[in-house]
Amino acid sequence: MTYETLAREKAGALIEKGHARILAVESSCDETAMAVVEDGRRLIAGVIASQIDMHALYGGVVPEIASRMHVEALDPLLDQTLGQAGLTMDGVDAVAVTYGPGLVGALLTGVAWAKAFAYARALPLVAVNHIEGHVSANYIAHPDLRPPFVCLVASGGHSHIVRVDDYGAYTLLGGTTDDAAGEAFDKVARVLDIPYPGGPLLDKLAEEGNDRAYAFPKIHTPGPYDFSFSGLKTAVINQAHHLRQQGEAINAADWAASFRRAVVDSLAEKTVRACLDTGLRRVALAGGVASNRLLRREIERLGKKAGLETFMPPAALCTDNAAMIGSAAFYRLMKGEIAPLSLNAVPSLGLMGD
Ligand code: KG4
Ligand code: ZN
Repeated sequence: MTYETLAREKAGALIEKGHARILAVESSCDETAMAVVEDGRRLIAGVIASQIDMHALYGGVVPEIASRMHVEALDPLLDQTLGQAGLTMDGVDAVAVTYGPGLVGALLTGVAWAKAFAYARALPLVAVNHIEGHVSANYIAHPDLRPPFVCLVASGGHSHIVRVDDYGAYTLLGGTTDDAAGEAFDKVARVLDIPYPGGPLLDKLAEEGNDRAYAFPKIHTPGPYDFSFSGLKTAVINQAHHLRQQGEAINAADWAASFRRAVVDSLAEKTVRACLDTGLRRVALAGGVASNRLLRREIERLGKKAGLETFMPPAALCTDNAAMIGSAAFYRLMKGEIAPLSLNAVPSLGLMGD
């Protein structure tokens, strides 16, 4: 029998049982991650090999280094993940992998590894969209959460407000017209001499600052659920340079707090408005920026005021991880969506598969 026939038969049996233990692989950027997830909801094991220390030397992700480090990390991660799960390879029912969006070389390492594993073990292969993965982190953190709900996906490369109509079915309500929220955090952090990755450290610093200390320009956006951070980012960076040229000291904590306030107000207000306008009562956060402390507090506060139920994964499931990929993969697998061995990386993949 060919691999395709075996994989299809195995997938059919899993669909019939409504049960699958999935080994998931994530390598789209600067973390190599692997996890075992059961039935889309239960995280059995999850391991992450972070490359942050290496990229910090260069002030940002160096794609070629990222790819090489993924290649080195993948095999040892399998041993660690299975060890943590208390499983052998026989305990794995299917393999899932992020195939986009992300850095092409980085994605390819995970895709090639997952294809080889699937072929060698005659297991179904499931291709997962990284952004859908971020949304799905909520299914692991909140076992009772079911679509429909509104989700803000804010990461280093993406900022979207989506209506999650069903598992794997989305309506895009709005998004950034320029920089992603995480990108803006990272760029402003650099001006404050905060090392890469700037977002989390800027957030920490902002906790000690006064968010009314500096006045930054108001954000203008074309649509009610759209974002724009480029103008704010440029104004903030220019203002910092200007003050420095004049020999004025910048209070970094106040600066970070004032900038964070401007970004978070925009993200939180628009997300809650989108939820109310769609008539849905549940709002969720996803992506690296969803670990931002102020954003979490604001969504809780505004959500409560509007009578909404709020959902957000713990910080470790907001930033890149493989658990979220294993969750998204389960619902794809249950619909019979398995990938061929010709699967390729799609670096600019959109949430709607465009
Ligand atoms: O989702 P993620 O891990 O990777 C991408 O898919 O991009 O997101 C990483 C982004 C980076 O820009 C990082 O600075 C930002 O999320 N980030 C944060 C925080 N934690 C991570 N931004 C603001 N506050 C945080 N606490
Ligand atoms: Zn991500």
